[in-house]
Amino acid sequence: KSAGLSDINFTVYCGTLAHTPKLGVLEVIPNAVVGVDQDGIIVFITPNAADDPLKAVSAYDPTLSLTQVDVINTDLQNESCFWFPGFFDTHIHAPQFSNNGIFGNSTLLDWLEKYTFPLESSFKDLSIAKEHYERVIDRTLSNGTTCASYYATIHPLASKLLAEIALKKGQRAFIGKVCMDKNSPDHYIETADECKQATLDVIDHIEKIDPEMELIAPIITPRFAGSCTSELLKWLGDLRESKNYHCQTHINETQVEIEWILKQFPDYNTYTDIYNDHNLLSNKTILGHGIHFTEYEKDLISKIGCGVAHCPTSNSSITSGEARIRWLLDAGINVGLGTDCSGGFTPSILEVSKHALLVSRHLVMGSKNEKEKLTVNECLYLATMGGANVCKLQDKAGSFEIGKKWECQLIDLDVQGSALDIFDYQRPNWKENDYVEAKSKFQNLIDKWVFNGDDRNVRKVYTNGRCVVNKEY
Ligand code: GUN
Ligand code: FE
Repeated sequence: KSAGLSDINFTVYCGTLAHTPKLGVLEVIPNAVVGVDQDGIIVFITPNAADDPLKAVSAYDPTLSLTQVDVINTDLQNESCFWFPGFFDTHIHAPQFSNNGIFGNSTLLDWLEKYTFPLESSFKDLSIAKEHYERVIDRTLSNGTTCASYYATIHPLASKLLAEIALKKGQRAFIGKVCMDKNSPDHYIETADECKQATLDVIDHIEKIDPEMELIAPIITPRFAGSCTSELLKWLGDLRESKNYHCQTHINETQVEIEWILKQFPDYNTYTDIYNDHNLLSNKTILGHGIHFTEYEKDLISKIGCGVAHCPTSNSSITSGEARIRWLLDAGINVGLGTDCSGGFTPSILEVSKHALLVSRHLVMGSKNEKEKLTVNECLYLATMGGANVCKLQDKAGSFEIGKKWECQLIDLDVQGSALDIFDYQRPNWKENDYVEAKSKFQNLIDKWVFNGDDRNVRKVYTNGRCVVNKEY
């Protein structure tokens, strides 16, 4: 059985919970006891009960045999340890992982030709796919990414393998076989017919290996309008609609790209109209980048309910632009974060959160509009709940709520050798009767974590109530 589907006992988790259930709001529940049932679902959250966790269990269900309850304690003496929801990476190219950091001075279209297509093409070889896909899932899980929306390559066998590896390692994942039947090199292109066949084949396989869609789901993935014919886009759009599948693609990433695309689709005035007219947009569609939307496009995607994957690391690295996230959020659009490896150089959503914050400040330096600034808590919301909304998993994960899955990471800011220094005076004391002061100290620790933390601070990771990463130091 996969790590994320193994049998578990009723379990209680003790310690401080922190999450961002609403945009900009950090909620802290000190010394909580959380009950998680055999399906991995949170059934109770009791604050200030960690001194006697079994008492909280009895209060929940007096008939539960306490000998069958597992108790997981964080180190309660350590006020810099807390549970945080797992991160959502709403846009990541699994096969590009080995190119992280390698992009020189390129911009999107030459970057694709020079770095990306040659690497992706090599995934025809399943042994290459296996090595790379094992590593990308290990690495993202280790960074606290409990759910990722992956672009694979055009190859059906390698795409199926990615699904199997995510399932085996227990990561929640959307798996997209990439579709591309034009403007691609001879060694890395498919015909529309090959693409249709392969797309159905991969979806079928995913539905077989995880029939209840406990962890893995297919996602329709036209790479972008620049690499798909109108015929293929329309077929994919109709397939999307037939079973209300998730869908992901790139949109409005660079000005040069937009001009190039609009030349290929002369009947359309905007990039969004192309996708909309090919039936690719729904509230289960994730639009990657979305930097250069017009007012009209922003209103259209808001009306349809598409999510946007904000990829500030990639957008800065390959000089694509600065997405106006406040403007999208104000229009009621769901926004999550994406590493976009390897347009982006890091597999860490924590690091991308920091870049989202910095890019928002760069926007302010141009616009002088302070409202565009994103706060630490807003960026953490995008990394968790925002991503859950984009993936339509808001009832399953993204925050700690009764009825949701226990899907989180145990953060330890005091790990020896990590990049964080916590001084004793900075530690919150929840036991003293000054909640306001403790909360303010805790917020400072959260800020330090976002700016100076990394995967060394991730001690354990859970998906679907199962432990999928456990680091012993
Ligand atoms: N547009 C089309 N393909 C890609 C890709 O692989 N990465 C990014 N960032 N943009 C794209
Ligand atoms: Fe991308």
